[in-house]
Amino acid sequence: PPAKPLAGCQMTITAGPTREAIDPVRYISNYSSGKMGYALAQAAAKLGAQVSLISGPVHLATPAGCQRIDVSSTQQMYDAALRLAPKSDIFIACAAVADYRVAAVAEQKIKKSDEQMRLTLVRNPDIVAAVANLADKPFVVGFAAETQDVACYAKDKMQRKHLDMIAANDVSQPDSGFNVDDNALHVFWADGEQLLPRADKYQLAEQLMQLITTRYQHETN
Ligand code: PMT
Repeated sequence: PPAKPLAGCQMTITAGPTREAIDPVRYISNYSSGKMGYALAQAAAKLGAQVSLISGPVHLATPAGCQRIDVSSTQQMYDAALRLAPKSDIFIACAAVADYRVAAVAEQKIKKSDEQMRLTLVRNPDIVAAVANLADKPFVVGFAAETQDVACYAKDKMQRKHLDMIAANDVSQPDSGFNVDDNALHVFWADGEQLLPRADKYQLAEQLMQLITTRYQHETN
């Protein structure tokens, strides 16, 4: 039988984009398809983890054995994450979260008028940073989507947000990152790093999950 090194492990994974409403028919979002996060959920379940998958709006089937919680806005993803994280052993933030939301969502559809229009945006809470600041925090893995100086920005994010690990992807490459089947990751932790070369997101998820399992076991034993 296949080894189940994550048996008994509660895992929470965020995946997909968040949407910030502008008015009843419009929103701000990004190109995340959810593929990377869903592949991680599938790989974790295969290793025996009990997976809660907090998902933004995507067009993907729920991986077998995972419990899926559908959300739309960043605030909804934040609320679900902060409810589940205290009961989790491992938390992985793969969602592409909107950093800003519309300050005042219009109750009615906004009418076309002037040549220019302005939207005021306000900062959203940082979900993975809030989880990493919990008193009884899980082992926390973040992602970093960068278009330049990938390693440098990723290591800075890991330290600033108090993460145990960070998986960086260069999203300026057209054949990896957002909304495609492949990705490549550069993974960092406090005293090590590993390159996971370009591959199908599911293969990459299996490799990253092995790495997370090793580091998690190392930190908890
Ligand atoms: O969904 P796919 O199409 O498969 O694409 C995969 C991906 C490129 C979206 C994925 O691999 C990825 O990089 N996800 C993180 C995208 C992102 O928003 O990165 P960031 O560098 O802006 O954020 C850094 C980290 O903070 C991430 O773990 C993010 O989930 C988290 N974050 C960011 C903002 C916020 N308000 N709350 C957060 O938790």
